[in-house]
Amino acid sequence: MKLLGKVALVTGSAQGIGQAVAIRLAQEGADVIVDDRAIGESAQQTADAITKLGRKVHMIAGDLANTADDRRVIADGVAKLGKIDILVNNAGVEKRADFWNVTEAEYDFVMQINLRGTFFITQDFVNHLIATKRTGRIINMSSVHEEMAFPHFSTYCASKGGLKMLCRNLAVELGPLGITVNNIAPGAIATPINKALLNNPELMKLLESKIPLGRLGTPNDVAGLAAFLASDDAAYMTGATFFVDGGLICNYHEQ
Ligand code: BGC
Repeated sequence: MKLLGKVALVTGSAQGIGQAVAIRLAQEGADVIVDDRAIGESAQQTADAITKLGRKVHMIAGDLANTADDRRVIADGVAKLGKIDILVNNAGVEKRADFWNVTEAEYDFVMQINLRGTFFITQDFVNHLIATKRTGRIINMSSVHEEMAFPHFSTYCASKGGLKMLCRNLAVELGPLGITVNNIAPGAIATPINKALLNNPELMKLLESKIPLGRLGTPNDVAGLAAFLASDDAAYMTGATFFVDGGLICNYHEQ
């Protein structure tokens, strides 16, 4: 077990990639703070899986778009589980809209959760590490779209592009404090964020034909990388993005 004695906070861990990451970190020995906008049945499923593994779990509802909530999530997690060593900034949203129609409300919704919320909860986490004189790990769930265009998802791409540079910048600024920062860039993973796609067989076929490995990924395809980046094996890795996309980003055919 690579993470025995560590405490991890995984935002958006009631479902999808966040849920798989939370459970995988617990398999590696970490106690876990399960955080999502609302704590319902699916958050409880994450928590039950973690408890079954013999690890401690604390569930907390928080809206990443609200900085007071971000502070409360960190403070409450520390109060309940004693400390936080690993922050996985997993929570994220997307809204499809033609660029010329994007409303301010849609822009704010995506940016506030994907970038602003990630920024400030990370700040709270780093302040916790500084106050307790400890090192730590930051893992951001970015996307292939921190690098690759995604027409009709300009807000999403802007937020993930921001995460790319936030990762690079914090790696330099926080390196001297012994804090590493890395991004995971999933491709098309079967999760609730792309429900519309999953329910459209034609679109699915087209997308699968663009993925060299020929299938969508699963949350578990991503979770192992998060566990690795949180572990001592990744102690000398910082400021980088790691793609988990079945080869999607490299794919180009002339015919
Ligand atoms: C998006 C999905 C999309 C995938 C591949 C992800 O970041 O959330 O909606 O299918 O990238 O394009």
